[in-house]
Amino acid sequence: YLVFPLAAVVGYLAGSIPFGLLLTRAAGLGDIRQVGSGNIGATNVLRTGRKDLALATLLLDSLKAGLVALGFGLLGGAELGLVAGAAAFIGHCYPIWLGFKGGKGVATFAGLLPFVSLPAFYVAAPVWFGIFALTRISSLAALTAAALVAPGAWLVEEVMHRPHNWFVLLGLAALSVFVFWTHRANLGRLLKGTEPRFGSSKAKPD
Ligand code: G3P
Repeated sequence: YLVFPLAAVVGYLAGSIPFGLLLTRAAGLGDIRQVGSGNIGATNVLRTGRKDLALATLLLDSLKAGLVALGFGLLGGAELGLVAGAAAFIGHCYPIWLGFKGGKGVATFAGLLPFVSLPAFYVAAPVWFGIFALTRISSLAALTAAALVAPGAWLVEEVMHRPHNWFVLLGLAALSVFVFWTHRANLGRLLKGTEPRFGSSKAKPD
């Protein structure tokens, strides 16, 4: 049973590495927290104009959660993988190194999904890309995917006559609620109609 706290600690430490901040700083772009939305994630790194760094941030932030979910998943099944991945998500959102002010958890959430629930991944990925392609608003894509991931995974399992893993489904639902919390400023802007779109002249939030 010691393996659950171990998964949480290792996951948290991996998740708390702020790749967006480190990469933009290394590239001489200053502090990403002073740019755009102030977030340390790939979406905001893209607002610096550096697509390569945004892609690297997305991959590394996804990988840090994916690797711990995969590793602990192999050790103790999807439940342990979810605990490790969720801890990475929390570490990303509340990193001890940045005074607990981190990112919004979208890439870490996406990174853990394929290793804890493939049905969830197959629901969330096309929803994110579909909504982003339609609206060019990253936060709206993330919130829609978060809202649909757990019920969508349940539905896919139901249709395919696969057993439900309620620990994983409810854990994913809890992380989704958390994503709404980390996006509360984005939600406010979305409701006011002021959330910036990519590809428009006004790419930065007010
Ligand atoms: O991944 C975070 C995204 O959903 C929103 O980022 O920078 O627009 O607040 P941002």
